[in-house]
Amino acid sequence: MRRIMVAGNWKMHGTRASVAELTKGLRHLVLPSGVDVAVFPPFLYVNQVIDGLDGTSIAVGAQNSAAEASQGALTGEIAPSQLADAGCTFVLIGHSERRQIMGEQDELLNRKFAAAQACGLTPVLCVGETLVQRDAGKTLEVVGRQLSSIIEALGVGAFVNAVIAYEPVWAIGTGLTASPQQAQEVHAAIRAQLAAENAEVAQGVRLLYGGSVKAANAAELFGMPDIDGGLIGGASLNADEFGAICRAAGN
Ligand code: PGA
Repeated sequence: MRRIMVAGNWKMHGTRASVAELTKGLRHLVLPSGVDVAVFPPFLYVNQVIDGLDGTSIAVGAQNSAAEASQGALTGEIAPSQLADAGCTFVLIGHSERRQIMGEQDELLNRKFAAAQACGLTPVLCVGETLVQRDAGKTLEVVGRQLSSIIEALGVGAFVNAVIAYEPVWAIGTGLTASPQQAQEVHAAIRAQLAAENAEVAQGVRLLYGGSVKAANAAELFGMPDIDGGLIGGASLNADEFGAICRAAGN
């Protein structure tokens, strides 16, 4: 049985004061016991959030990490070993904003994914198509290619200890959500692609949906058979809204 997961991606938001406020709000949430909850603050605030959530069940992850596992001469990067040392347990790999805006490509993401796992972090691999790709009928092809990049480089076994987040680029931060049916179709295809390699891995891996998830649409999305939770952007910056999404996941 896959445990539901709700993850909050804070992106490049926050100040010390607002992070303290949000962390305090999260501390006070009553979270359903069947749901794994994690938040992904900007690097700068990771320590503050880990300290602030000490004693709670909420895990902390980073939004990105270096392709090299160990610390070294790589100005401006953060090694996954450093994230693990800080107390992070997850890291986002290949969020669409990094693929599209920072130009990160599959080969680099394969290395980031492997380096993160080598340090004991659980990678959350983000995949998803643009609107142009969807309109051209290429959604499953694009997502399939993003997934097969990891499978070919690291083997399907790499997904024993990983999470996948399907985030259609056109739904991120736009208020447009994939319908539960649209999301389920892609999730089912992702699971089928993994199952073609290894049925057990496919059954065990958690597939999160992301893209304008909020309390009002979460339950419907999480009710689909292959949607095992969500990766929440904007709505995760409000503790009450995020808590409501976590509760929707628990039902
Ligand atoms: P959103 O972002 O919920 O603000 O659409 C999701 C994400 O990018 O992870």
